[in-house]
Amino acid sequence: MARKKQFEKPLHGDKESLRFATPEPIARYRAQRLRCRALADISCGIGGQTVFFAQQCEFVYAVEIDPERIEYAKQNCEMYGLDNVKFICGDALDPKVIEQIPAVDVVFSDPFRPPEEDERQVSCLEPGIPNVLSAYGEKTKNFAFEAPPQMPPERIPFDCEKEYISLDGQLNRLTLYFGGLKQYERLAVALPAGEGLISKALPLPPVRESEKMKLYAYEPEPSVMAAGLLPELADSMIETVGPFAGGFELFRVDKKRLLFTSDALVKQPMIKHHYLVLKVCPFEPGEINRFLRDRNVGSVVLRAGVKPEDYWEVRKEVEKGLEGKKTVHLFVKEGRAILCEVIFQD
Ligand SMILES: C[S@@+](CC[C@H](N)C(=O)[O-])C[C@H]1O[C@@H](n2cnc3c(N)ncnc32)[C@H](O)[C@@H]1O
Repeated sequence: MARKKQFEKPLHGDKESLRFATPEPIARYRAQRLRCRALADISCGIGGQTVFFAQQCEFVYAVEIDPERIEYAKQNCEMYGLDNVKFICGDALDPKVIEQIPAVDVVFSDPFRPPEEDERQVSCLEPGIPNVLSAYGEKTKNFAFEAPPQMPPERIPFDCEKEYISLDGQLNRLTLYFGGLKQYERLAVALPAGEGLISKALPLPPVRESEKMKLYAYEPEPSVMAAGLLPELADSMIETVGPFAGGFELFRVDKKRLLFTSDALVKQPMIKHHYLVLKVCPFEPGEINRFLRDRNVGSVVLRAGVKPEDYWEVRKEVEKGLEGKKTVHLFVKEGRAILCEVIFQD
């Protein structure tokens, strides 16, 4: 079965492996970061990441415990015209497999993880990170692992760089870099743009919170939030506008969503959406619709505060008769609507 999933060339694979395969923009980004002479990808699945390693590295060792998946990985490398990969079918922790791999520059593992867990734990990964570090310790000191991005940095009990990646505005991957690959403590990346934000060496104070919306609202890339880099993001926005333009405060919409708010207008690449705040008013769909008419608005994105079963009815009511070009995002906090117009749209 061949299916397209964010790949230029649709990969070969079974449904489950395709679901877990690394999306192409992330696989390409990672392969560039890990570019080296010889790399071992020791839980390669159908090779969604392997093909891009093989494009960047001189030689790749690809290990996979499942015989069907490794056949797909071979087909995928063939499809990309790659002949610099040695495929090894077996348990990556089996000494018979390990002895087939010489000293390499980098060992990479994207381990199996249970599809769902109450709370993501590094101990549930298969093969486990400590086991791989000790089994391959003679081959290299440079390791990179993929881990579930829902895990906050403080729950990762290793001395490693934690790189959170969002893709198209959604949190997508977490990569842990060990040894010589560790460059920072924490890093947030936004793909496909390829922008990044790094943690400062000394911890910054938390960003001040506000209950009041100012002229502009800024929605951070989810990778920034996952990496705990909101103070760094506020700092970089202050650096851009200068210290006298006014500060950036946090406005919590609900448990999951937060926005920066400020009277200063800034464009920052790790901001997913920049908004002009049009109005803060009681959440009454009919009133909101009347306000949006004659303002060149065509669509309203409901961002919170509406029960899923009411979503389409509310959306229909707020969008009734709107025929303009602009998109407005509607946030709801404790019965109050915040109408935000997207600015700096591509
Ligand atoms: C998340 S998938 C890898 C996906 C791959 N990076 C891609 O982009 O297509 C994890 C893979 O690890 C394999 N695996 C689990 N335990 C293993 C072990 N001990 N040795 C080798 N492979 C293993 C699983 O069979 C599975 O295919």
